[in-house]
Amino acid sequence: MVFTRRDLLATAAGIAAGAQAQTPSGAVTPCAIASVNGLRAVSKALEMIRGGADVLDAVIAGVNILEDDPQEHGVGLGGMPNEEGVVELDASVMHGPTRRAGAVGAIQKIKNPSNVAKLVMERTDHLMLVGEGALRFAIAEGFQPTNLLTEDSRIAWLAWKEKRGTAWGPGLADGSGAMASASAETRTFAQRMLDHPITGTINCLGVNAKGDLSGTTSTSGMAFKIPGRVGDSPIIGAGLWLDNDIGAAGSTGRGEENIKICGAHTVVEYMRHGASPQDACLETLKRIQRTYFGNRAKLEKVDIDFYALNKKGEYGSASLWDHQGDGRVSRYAVADAKGARLMDCAFLMTR
Ligand code: GLY
Repeated sequence: MVFTRRDLLATAAGIAAGAQAQTPSGAVTPCAIASVNGLRAVSKALEMIRGGADVLDAVIAGVNILEDDPQEHGVGLGGMPNEEGVVELDASVMHGPTRRAGAVGAIQKIKNPSNVAKLVMERTDHLMLVGEGALRFAIAEGFQPTNLLTEDSRIAWLAWKEKRGTAWGPGLADGSGAMASASAETRTFAQRMLDHPITGTINCLGVNAKGDLSGTTSTSGMAFKIPGRVGDSPIIGAGLWLDNDIGAAGSTGRGEENIKICGAHTVVEYMRHGASPQDACLETLKRIQRTYFGNRAKLEKVDIDFYALNKKGEYGSASLWDHQGDGRVSRYAVADAKGARLMDCAFLMTR
């Protein structure tokens, strides 16, 4: 068992909240959880769940807030572009009561890939569409193509090209780099992206009073990726998985590591065999640890978090490290009867 830094206080309170999630009558206290960027998402999702909305519609509506926000650089509009300066998005959805799923990978020009993933689920007998086909499908379904590259993301991308030692950058005769004419805020942002290129992503999971579960994961993926790279977010069983009889799980962070161990599926299977949501996340992280054969230096380059919510409304999250590569303490968002808040993730190792 691994505890957070506040283990005997805050985490114990979290476990107590989980323990009370099911009332004596058997009804579940509605709840939504998400990655650390998802405080607004869980608030919206819980409000809709309480109002009687389908849980999948609720978590998608929550994630849409982030997808629509140009200041949120890990998803949707303003997401980080690939190495050619094009924003390519991935997303998946799963609907517990009907046991259906949908996904899109490497879709361009559509800011809400979570909605497109839901339509793949509802209007096709396929599960995943990618690239040009996904875009054409979205347009056919009425989505408006739009330029997703914001000024901040464009400057960060140009600065990244310059840093790579290509012909891009200050000219020989007093030329200036991409950041020279940018605002102070944009320069700060671009420098942060250079120091710690992100994998972005929001995962949001919800449960209603009947114990019905749904979830979605949405991302712009790894900053400056090779065009066509698809991470774990749209992979059913990796970036998202749920079984309406047991629970739901999702992930943010280094997608390649997660796909190799079918992470979200593994988390739910641990819960099926009796693990708490937090312990299920920790056990799943140990599988990633195993793939590095004790090479700590390499493993330190990996940041990944799992989120889990069971059918009783108990929840938990765990991170591979106590701090992310950029120094942030690993946290996640929760909204339930106690309100919307950030909580510390458990962690497997200390940096
Ligand atoms: N987890 C997001 C990605 O790797 O693309």
